[in-house]
Amino acid sequence: MKSINQWQAQEYDNQLAFVSEYGKSLIPWLRPTEGESILDLGCGTGDLTQEISQYGVAVTGIDASSDMIAQAKKKFPELEFWEADGQQFETERQYDAVFSNAALHWMRKPRNVVDGVWHALKPGGRFVAEFGGKGNVQIIVNALEEVLERHTGIKASERNPWYFPTIAQYSTLLEDRGFVVRQAYHYDRPTKLADGEDGIIGWLAHFGDDYFEGFSSEQVKEWCQEISEIVIPKLWKNDAIYADYKRIRIEAFKPGV
Ligand code: BEZ
Repeated sequence: MKSINQWQAQEYDNQLAFVSEYGKSLIPWLRPTEGESILDLGCGTGDLTQEISQYGVAVTGIDASSDMIAQAKKKFPELEFWEADGQQFETERQYDAVFSNAALHWMRKPRNVVDGVWHALKPGGRFVAEFGGKGNVQIIVNALEEVLERHTGIKASERNPWYFPTIAQYSTLLEDRGFVVRQAYHYDRPTKLADGEDGIIGWLAHFGDDYFEGFSSEQVKEWCQEISEIVIPKLWKNDAIYADYKRIRIEAFKPGV
């Protein structure tokens, strides 16, 4: 089974383009200004890194997945990318801003992330991020864990790879490190899945690996079908399944100027 770090970058570009599409709306929070230097934390295959570069800033993308970084370099050879885990990274220089879209919820050591961001920022620098907030994909997670526990007896919640904090929890982490939180926003963003009634099957194929590790593909296939049957009545609207995404947007400053 592959983990998030081994995603096929191609697959990400083909089927998960909505991740970067939604992320574009975070750029106005970043307000990139010509001449600035910006770090894109968890850049995936670089679409938003490239978008940010259009503002005349020097932008660097980092991601823990070597596949993603290779694909980003191939797509945007003029930009700088390097492979690094957001939970243990150090930068040689300091940036005016750190930006992150749809990545922080994969990092279960958020204190390390906040520490890395702090060191990566110049005094006065800003941190602008969006990621899954409290209650994100809860309907899917509940069904997944219910089905897995019923069939295997394991405590499925112990395999949950995600970190979905409240605004209060994340702001506290930032404030404990010395950041000043300027804006924080928690909102529902129902997200349309491709493939009609098979939408959850596809979503689980992309994101469910940590839960399914050690089980056969036949078992996983059968369980995914059951999960799908539980969630469709709850998430189907008009023409598709809309996953129950909930996001946190946050803007914080490192004091100093
Ligand atoms: C998210 O973007 O919220 C997300 C993506 C994959 C798995 C869980 C959550």
